[in-house]
Amino acid sequence: MRFLSHKFLEQNAVLLLIMILVTVSIGGIVEIVPLFTIETTIERVQGVRPYSPLELAGRDVYVREGCYLCHSQQIRPFRDEVERYGHYSLAAESMYDHPFQWGSERTGPDLARIGGKYSNDWHVAHLANPRDVVPESVMPPYAFLAERPLDLDRLADHLRTNRIVGVPYIDEMIANAKADAVAQADPAADTAALLKRYPGAATGGFGGDPSRITERDALIAYLQMLGTLVKFRDVSPDALRQ
Ligand code: HEC
Repeated sequence: MRFLSHKFLEQNAVLLLIMILVTVSIGGIVEIVPLFTIETTIERVQGVRPYSPLELAGRDVYVREGCYLCHSQQIRPFRDEVERYGHYSLAAESMYDHPFQWGSERTGPDLARIGGKYSNDWHVAHLANPRDVVPESVMPPYAFLAERPLDLDRLADHLRTNRIVGVPYIDEMIANAKADAVAQADPAADTAALLKRYPGAATGGFGGDPSRITERDALIAYLQMLGTLVKFRDVSPDALRQ
């Protein structure tokens, strides 16, 4: 057993590395393997649904533009955060996020519950030039998003890809991906079928021309959904302070 003595190990870099890997993997296996045996580590919560095609496309714009570099989407269960942003985030609220947008607070405020806080028009003005509505803002303008048409033909594939990684999009949702996006962006459209598939989806126009859906429409549809799926009205504020 000489080769396992401390002194010997410390003098043989390769052996030391192997033994470190063995030790660390024991810890890893003990922590990770039990997770495979329980069906799910996320408690299901009523109201959480897959994103509508327009919201999903908006989420892509959000990730592509790096909004997450300044904005987290995770309200931690601390009094100051709960009083500022609302109910702390539940794991189920980001169960369909690939990838998730958690993190601790960054340069800008947390956006986990931004949905419904402002009107669609406010977002239009804010994205065009944040300083028009918040004079002290250091957020960069994203006016160009209103000039970039959204690629509607990719939406169905986008839903299909999310289904592969476990988001429960049904065939009907995939078949109607493009039509649902058009219905959500157009304030004059019949949204009954859309809202049946995606309850609570924001509608009413996102400041653009409905005949030419842009990335800005998608981004605002996504922002207006954030934090609105779970209805926390029944939870008393006292329960949050415990
Ligand atoms: C350089 C950092 C930075 C980046 C990048 C950034 N933001 Fe912001 N954002 C801020 C700051 C700071 C504020 C607070 C001042 C304000 O409202 O403009 C803010 C505020 C906001 C608000 C209002 C939040 C509230 O509760 O009032 C929204 C919505 C928002 N940002 C969305 C976005 C989106 C969408 C993107 C990506 C397209 C983005 N931000 C990129 C810094 C950033």
